[in-house]
Formats: sequence, C-alpha cells, structure tokens
Amino acid sequence: MSEFKAPQLDVSSILHGGIHHPTLREWQANGRTLTKSMFIYPIFISDDPDAEEVISSLPGQKRWGLNKLEGFLAPLVKKGLKSVILFGVPMKMEKDARGSAADDPSTPVIQALHLLSKAFPQLMLTVDVCLCEYTSHGHCGILSSLPNPGHSNQPTIEMEPSAQRIAEVAVAYAKAGAHCVAPSDMMDGRIRAIKLGLMHAGLANRCALMSYSAKFASGLYGPFRDAAGSAPSFGNRKCYQLPPQGRSIARRAIQRDANEGADFIMVKPALPYLDIISDAARLAPDLPTACYQVSGEYAMVVAGAEKGIYDLKEMAFETTESMVRAGASIILSYFTPQFLDWLDEEK
Ligand code: PBG
Ligand code: ZN
Repeated sequence: MSEFKAPQLDVSSILHGGIHHPTLREWQANGRTLTKSMFIYPIFISDDPDAEEVISSLPGQKRWGLNKLEGFLAPLVKKGLKSVILFGVPMKMEKDARGSAADDPSTPVIQALHLLSKAFPQLMLTVDVCLCEYTSHGHCGILSSLPNPGHSNQPTIEMEPSAQRIAEVAVAYAKAGAHCVAPSDMMDGRIRAIKLGLMHAGLANRCALMSYSAKFASGLYGPFRDAAGSAPSFGNRKCYQLPPQGRSIARRAIQRDANEGADFIMVKPALPYLDIISDAARLAPDLPTACYQVSGEYAMVVAGAEKGIYDLKEMAFETTESMVRAGASIILSYFTPQFLDWLDEEK
C-alpha cells in the first residue's frame, strides 16, 4: 500500500472534461475554425499561353499559361475554391524602370482577369499589385538616381511617383475586373493613392483594397522570387519592407493603412509574426485581418514532412490554425487545394 496520496484537485483544475469529445475540442476554438472561404489561393500566370511549368523551389506549384488556367481551376472551384490571388510572371515581356508591362493590356494578369471572370463568375479575383515582376531593376517602386544615404548598394525610392504608379496599375486591374487589389509594394502613401484612384475611376464601390500592411523584409520569399522572376538586381528590400524586429513600426503601418482607406489588413509572413497578426486584429478590429503563409513557410512545412519530421496534413492544420487563433480570418496559402479536400474529411 502506497503512503503517497495525491493532493485533492481543485474544482478549477479539471481541463480534460472539456476536451474528451471531438465536438468539445471544436468548441474550444471559440468559433475560430478554418473554413474553405477563408482561403485565397496564390496563382502564377505566365505570358507563355501554353505554360505549365514546375517551380522547383515551390513544391506542387506551377506557372500557368492562359490556355491552361480554366482546366486547372475548374476542379478546384467545384470543390469549393472561393478566391484566388493572381501574380503576373512576364517571362518574355520587356522590363523597364517604371514596370510598364504591369498594366499593359496584354499583360498576363489583365488577360487572366478577362478570362476568369467569364469562366468562373462566382470566383473572387484578387490581384497582387507590385512593380518588381515588371521592372528592369527588380525593385517594387520607382527608383531615384540619388544614392541611398544609409547604404551605397541600396536603392532610393521616389516616394510620390511610386505611389502614383502603383495606383495607376491597381486601377487598371480594377477596370479589367479585379474584385480586390492587393498592393504588396510597401511604398508609402499607396493605399490612399489607390483608394483615390478607384474613386476617380468610379470603381471604389466595386473593388476592395487589401493592404499588405505589415510586410516584413523576410528570408522566406525566396521560392516566390524564383517563381515570379522578381528578385532585385541589386541591394535588397530593407528600405521599404519592415524590419523583422519592428513590432512598433508594424503597428504604425497597420493604423496608417486603415486610415488611408484599406478594407483588409494583411500580415506577411504569417507564422513567425503571430504577434503582429494579433496586433492587427486588435488595432483595426473593424477591418478583417488577413495573413500570408508565404512561399518559404509553405516550402518549410512540406520539406519537414518529406524528412519524416511530422505529418504534412497535421502540420498544415497546426500552422494555419495558429494564424486563426492569433486573429486572422483570411489566409493566403499554397495549401489551399489540399485544404479543399482536408476540410471535407473527418478530423
Ligand atoms: C512582390 C511580392 C512578394 C511576395 C508577394 N508579393 C515577394 C517580395 O516582396 O519580394 C511574396 C509571396 C511569397 O513568398 O509567397 N512584392
Ligand atoms: Zn514587389
């Protein structure tokens, strides 16, 4: 007979009672659970109309030509895909200092908008707005000839011309049928410039504005830059994307963009920035919070599963559910097609 007697549990000590059944465990999410309509699927659109190119650093994702797009998306729409975000990949188009190809009528995203709005009238079409895929220098704005005082190998941004140019591109996408424009360039003042541009064009009531507000200068964008051919030709993006240690400046960016007319606030990347997601949800509670599980995050989850470190599906759920728990209600993710199946399965 043992001498030891466990101390009496207090009434508040018992947690197991609340999690012993699958439905009880769902209730522990306070209603914050993943649904199909939370997901936005990022799609790369090539200017080669017959392209279906594997992107080696972004497992399972491809660059799609216009002729392949409908066949690729039809089964996903059938499974409940509600929305996509389009990225243009000009493989052949000429690049120049102002990114003229971004809003050329022949540019792949504008062509894709025409095609997709006909083929899938219910599908919500967001377009990423940036210049880096289209500029000769690979930076996200218009550059000045002045040297950067902080670092000689860094660009200096021309502030107002950059915001104006981004607005011009966003309005062109709205005119072509985008339901939402999402500027990822991080130029100061672009949210206001876009909102005014949409108003002047008579499109402000027909096109939402999702701001990549808290977008950090992250090491996790590598596979995307391979996919989109958008790596900077010199320097890096630290003069316009936020420093990873900068929680306060992220809060300023979120509040600024809310005041400049954004409809949705995005945090990017997602998993290393859950605190920022939670800040966004608290600082701008009336603007739904989106987050982007970026290319490098996605590739990390896939690589770990391939190494046998964990189960892919389990980790895809755990990472995205952490984003929802932090306050996100919209998730951009390369896992979207899998979630359309997974969310139908018994957990
Ligand atoms: C372009 C852009 C980037 C991403 C989205 N839009 C890359 C960058 O800023 O260099 C990253 C998305 C991803 O990694 O999945 N401005
Ligand atoms: Zn860019």
